[in-house]
Amino acid sequence: MQLNINGQTVEHELDPQMPLLWVLRDVMNLTGTKFGCGVAACGACTVHVNGQATRSCVTPVSSVAGSRITTIESLGSADKPHALQLAWIAEQVPQCGYCQSGMLMAAADLLARKPKPTDEDIDQAMSNICRCGTYQRVKAAIHRAAGASA
Ligand code: FES
Ligand code: FES
Repeated sequence: MQLNINGQTVEHELDPQMPLLWVLRDVMNLTGTKFGCGVAACGACTVHVNGQATRSCVTPVSSVAGSRITTIESLGSADKPHALQLAWIAEQVPQCGYCQSGMLMAAADLLARKPKPTDEDIDQAMSNICRCGTYQRVKAAIHRAAGASA
C-alpha cells in the first residue's frame, strides 16, 4: 500500500484494516502521535488527513491511501516552529505532555479554518481530553498563536 506521510511517499505491505495510528507508531516509528483510548474519544491520536484533524486510532489505513497524512513530527521544526508551538511554549501549556501532540494537531486544523477563533470556536473544535487539565492554557495559547499570525 502506498501512503503519503509528512510529504514522503512510502510503500508497505499492510493489513487494510490496520488503524492508521498503528501504522504511524509501529511501522513508521513516528511515535509523537499517542494512543489514548482507541475509540475516538480522547484525541491523543489526532493527525491531519488532507489537512483535516482525524483520529487515527479509528481510521483504517486503507481509507487514507492516496491522502496527505501529516503528523506532529512535521507540524514545525526546531528551525521553523509552527506559531502554535511557540505559543505553547510561551503559555507553558504541557503538564505530563501525553495529550499535547493531539491537542496541537487539532488546534492547527482549527487555525487553518478559522485564523481568529472565538472561545466558543475553540470549545467546539477542541474536544480532546487532557487528564492534567491544561484546557485554559490550551485556549490561551491558541489565542496567542492567532494573534501572532495577524
Ligand atoms: S486514541 Fe484515538 S481518540 Fe483516543
Ligand atoms: S498534559 Fe497530561 S494529559 Fe494533557
